[in-house]
Amino acid sequence: MSIYGDYIKSVIRTVPDWPQQGVNFRDITPLLQNSSAFRKLIDSFVHRYQDMELDAIAAIDARGFIIGAPVAYELGCSFVPVRKKGKLPFRTISETYTLEYGQAEVELHSDAFRQGDRILIMDDLIATGGTMLAAAKLITRSGGQVVETATIIDLPEIGGSARIREAGFGVFAVCS
Ligand code: PRP
Ligand code: ADE
Repeated sequence: MSIYGDYIKSVIRTVPDWPQQGVNFRDITPLLQNSSAFRKLIDSFVHRYQDMELDAIAAIDARGFIIGAPVAYELGCSFVPVRKKGKLPFRTISETYTLEYGQAEVELHSDAFRQGDRILIMDDLIATGGTMLAAAKLITRSGGQVVETATIIDLPEIGGSARIREAGFGVFAVCS
C-alpha cells in the first residue's frame, strides 16, 4: 500500500452489477480525470521502483497501458505491451486465462526482452489474478525476470493476489 492509498481509493468509483450481475466494477476513470490524483498514483509507483534497476515495464492491455507508459517514462526504462490476442503484428507467444467474467488470451512479441531482463508487470486491477499470472508466465517463458507485479487496486477477497504470491511473484498494490 502507498501513503496515498486511501486517497486514491476514494477517487475510484464502484459500479454495481457491471458488466454482469454480481460484479462490483472498479471504475478508474474518475481517478484519471483528477490530475492531482493521477500524479500521486504515478509518483507512488515511481517512488517504489526508482532504485530497482528495471529494464522494462510490461503493461497489460488496456488499462495497464495507462499507468505503465508514464512510469516507464519516469524511470527511463523500456515499455512492452502485453496485448489481447490478435493485436501484435510480429512473432508472438501466448497464454490463455480465465477472467472474473469470461475467458481471454494475452500475447507478447517473442523478441520483447533480452535474457535476464528485469521486468515489472503493471495492470490496473487484480481480481482472480488470471491476467497477471498469464503475463508473468509469458515473461518468464521469454527469458525475462519478473521483479514484481504492480497494480492500482487489489481485490483480496477474490483471491488473485494470494494466487500470484503462491506462484512466487511479489505483488504491490496502491490500494485494496
Ligand atoms: C481487467 C483488468 C485486469 C483484469 C483483472 O481487464 O484491467 O487486466 O481484468 O482481472 P483478473 O485478475 O481476474 O484477471 P479486462 O480484461 O476487463 O480488459 P480491459 O483492461 O481492456 O478493460
Ligand atoms: N476486472 C476484473 N474484475 C474487475 C472489477 N471488479 N472491476 C474492474 N475491472 C475488473
